[in-house]
Amino acid sequence: MSMRSPRIGVFDSGVGGLTVLSKLVELMPGAEYHYFGDTARVPYGGRASETIIGYSRQGLNYLASMGADLLVVACNTSSAIALPTLKGMFDIPVIGVVEDGVGVAISHARRGVLVLGTRATVKSGVYQHAIAVQRPDLPVRGVACPLFVPVVEEGLANAYLAEEVVRHYLQSCDDFDYDAILLGCTHFPIISTAIRNFVNKDVSVLDPSARVAERVRTILSGFSISSRDQPDIHFHVTDASESFKSVASMMGFSNVDQVTHVDVAGL
Ligand code: DGL
Repeated sequence: MSMRSPRIGVFDSGVGGLTVLSKLVELMPGAEYHYFGDTARVPYGGRASETIIGYSRQGLNYLASMGADLLVVACNTSSAIALPTLKGMFDIPVIGVVEDGVGVAISHARRGVLVLGTRATVKSGVYQHAIAVQRPDLPVRGVACPLFVPVVEEGLANAYLAEEVVRHYLQSCDDFDYDAILLGCTHFPIISTAIRNFVNKDVSVLDPSARVAERVRTILSGFSISSRDQPDIHFHVTDASESFKSVASMMGFSNVDQVTHVDVAGL
């Protein structure tokens, strides 16, 4: 048992991983957090696998150099594409989000599950495959929704535009009988009100982040988490982005003036 609080690194391509960070902070307010958002290079979802692996490795190396005890790859695109390659390169636990997404989907869905993600995540088939292995009876369809990402990054998740973008992607799924939507991208919980407004009331909209946080707490059970009530969060972003600050404060993070700018040329 370690007598100190754990230092947790959270990696995302932009603001989306704040959805995972907020669940971690809710569960373990006394831990120390370093959040890395690659705001200069977001979105990752339309990029080649080698690029996603390279950018993810740089972000994770940066967080490891902060002295993290554990790294959370909150970004689904990185979890799906880069994690299998990068996992073994660190001597601390590196946690992705795919298994939690699969877990929440198979425990809620009865008739069918729609997996929403970036182009790279959906094209990888990682979710569709893992769900089919565990529940071969459950129909799964993956839908790439790349435009959700800039809508969220621009702080427009609650604007009328968000409703239109949701309609654009989901109306093409009318021929598929589903009772669950898996939010397979960290940005999507931020636009989930527009998603809920579009779908039937019997459709569950599933965000795996609470499950990710539970799993991290279990892995870190050997640490003694301090009982401070003001969370210690350090933000690191690759672009001096005003929209990062505004989305973060919209999501309830109060110390977003403390943002370190990380130059991608030095990564
Ligand atoms: N954060 C990424 C994810 O969870 C989505 C945004 C992107 O395309 O970079 O997949």
